[in-house]
Amino acid sequence: MLSASVAEVHDFALTVRALVDHYPNERDVTASIADTLAELLADKAFTLPASHITAHPDHYVMYPLYVAPDGAFSIASAVWNVGQRTPVHGHETWGVVGIYSGVEREVRYAKPADGVVPERLGEHDWSPGEVTVCCTTDDDVHAVSCAGDLPCVGIHVYGANIGELRRRSYDADTGDVAWFVSPWATPATS
Ligand SMILES: [Fe+2]
Repeated sequence: MLSASVAEVHDFALTVRALVDHYPNERDVTASIADTLAELLADKAFTLPASHITAHPDHYVMYPLYVAPDGAFSIASAVWNVGQRTPVHGHETWGVVGIYSGVEREVRYAKPADGVVPERLGEHDWSPGEVTVCCTTDDDVHAVSCAGDLPCVGIHVYGANIGELRRRSYDADTGDVAWFVSPWATPATS
């Protein structure tokens, strides 16, 4: 029998599937997913299992909550321990992020041409229940860190299998680009 949380993630994935299939452009699909993700996070009965919110001592992790069989989208639980951060990076697809617990600090950059130093646009702290469209393919560059003294957990929805997608990281000082894959973490066992 499914736990309530697993069932809710399953229902959320079905909704995302319908929205991805319905909307032909990234602006509409991300706006509609943001609305439904906000509803999920507002449900006080919704909890992620411990296996998907466990921080790694050395680096941030992304656990798969759902990966569409055709690769059209994926849903991740992303966990930053206190003090952990990403480099400046892109996604090469659209993305929607909602905060489950803790505070995520996002610094946004203009998407640079190759070899150009990324222009810093500003930063924002996202708190539990808040949802942001972090990325569209043409505006997808940021750096993320855990703010505060508790680990940060977010539910991230991307327009691809994010655990297998090649994407860019940027040297914030030189603009040098390195391609990377952020592979799925194996859910923790108790
Ligand atoms: Fe990101």
